[in-house]
Amino acid sequence: MYSKIFPHLIYRKGRIVIVTDTNVADLYADAFCKELKELKPDTVLLKIPPGEGSKSREIKEILEDKLVEMGVSRSDLLIAFGGGVVSDVVGYLAATYLRGISYIVVPTTLMGMVDAAIGGKNGINHQKGKNLMGSLWSPDDVFIEPKFLLTLSNTVYREGFIEVIKYGLIFDEELFSGLERRDVSEKEYIEKSIRIKRLVVKRDPTDSSLRRILNYGHLVAHAIEKCTAYSVSHGRALWLGILIENYISYMKGYLSMESVERISELFLRDEIRFLQIPGLSAEVLYEAMKNDKKAAKNVPRVVLLRRIGKAVSFGGEYCTPLSYADFAAAFSWVNNLIANPLPIRSLTV
Ligand SMILES: NC(=O)c1ccc[n+]([C@@H]2O[C@H](COP(=O)([O-])OP(=O)(O)OC[C@H]3O[C@@H](n4cnc5c(N)ncnc54)[C@H](O)[C@@H]3O)[C@@H](O)[C@H]2O)c1
Repeated sequence: MYSKIFPHLIYRKGRIVIVTDTNVADLYADAFCKELKELKPDTVLLKIPPGEGSKSREIKEILEDKLVEMGVSRSDLLIAFGGGVVSDVVGYLAATYLRGISYIVVPTTLMGMVDAAIGGKNGINHQKGKNLMGSLWSPDDVFIEPKFLLTLSNTVYREGFIEVIKYGLIFDEELFSGLERRDVSEKEYIEKSIRIKRLVVKRDPTDSSLRRILNYGHLVAHAIEKCTAYSVSHGRALWLGILIENYISYMKGYLSMESVERISELFLRDEIRFLQIPGLSAEVLYEAMKNDKKAAKNVPRVVLLRRIGKAVSFGGEYCTPLSYADFAAAFSWVNNLIANPLPIRSLTV
């Protein structure tokens, strides 16, 4: 399982500090640390609680205190071993501890492999909004081992799969069609997703233009997460966020209704759909969106699709202001869609 990663670690000078969550520790990281300790006895394993609640200042501070206590230096290495929560916290920790130390990521969820571990963005949440503090600090390496996915719950797997579909929507019509036809293997869609993310990040490393397309569905998703105090997971919120932003893309005259239907049909399949809408109003969600990082002068800005496989450029900005009226109309359309899944076209307003 670790044959790819160990050769990179054992000849490294300096101490290794592994950070994981307690679920991943029980499944893999305790054993990983034990094996590594045989070769590097000063290896340390730090555990944080699982879940979005760990993307917090408190957890970052606890980890910082531990690193200081242990005298971790710039020649040491952090390993983020876990899902997106672990890689987000550890990436931010690595970026700020001693003004930046090296880290690598061993993602253990699909979300981690196809998205969170790639591109160097990291962060923690604030009560006012998702990922409000963070940095752009890239890991030295990311080790992808799909065998970790075998122990993921169906739900957590699906949450990551929504990000895979998102790559098809924003960048690769062929990937989307393959997912629709169910003829893309797991290995293929992981590789394709990583390739797309890397390419987009390379073209816009500072997140000021094209990279915004990676946030398709995320304006709404982050507001849902925040307004439910993170009891709705990122992937589940993204499922709803993409459906809503598809309809906004249609109302704004870009995405065709035929494409909205195609995407909705894929999203409503048994193995993909989530269906539950958190009991939130359009007003509450819109208010939360005003705190989104891309909002300008208190007006949220949204990424839109021109067609499946392509986002709207808006002169290189890749996002556009979203009014309350447009959001409320799309929110209500998606609520109807979920309450009465078929026929989709009859729901058009
Ligand atoms: N930085 C980025 O670019 C980026 C991109 C996408 C998502 N994210 C962030 O990632 C987070 C979501 O990531 P996630 O979906 O991986 O959630 P997560 O890290 O909370 O993991 C989900 C659950 O799966 C468990 N788990 C992890 N690996 C497992 C395994 N192999 N087998 C069994 N259980 C396992 C975890 O303990 C946790 O309970 C969100 O905070 C999101 O904002 C960041």
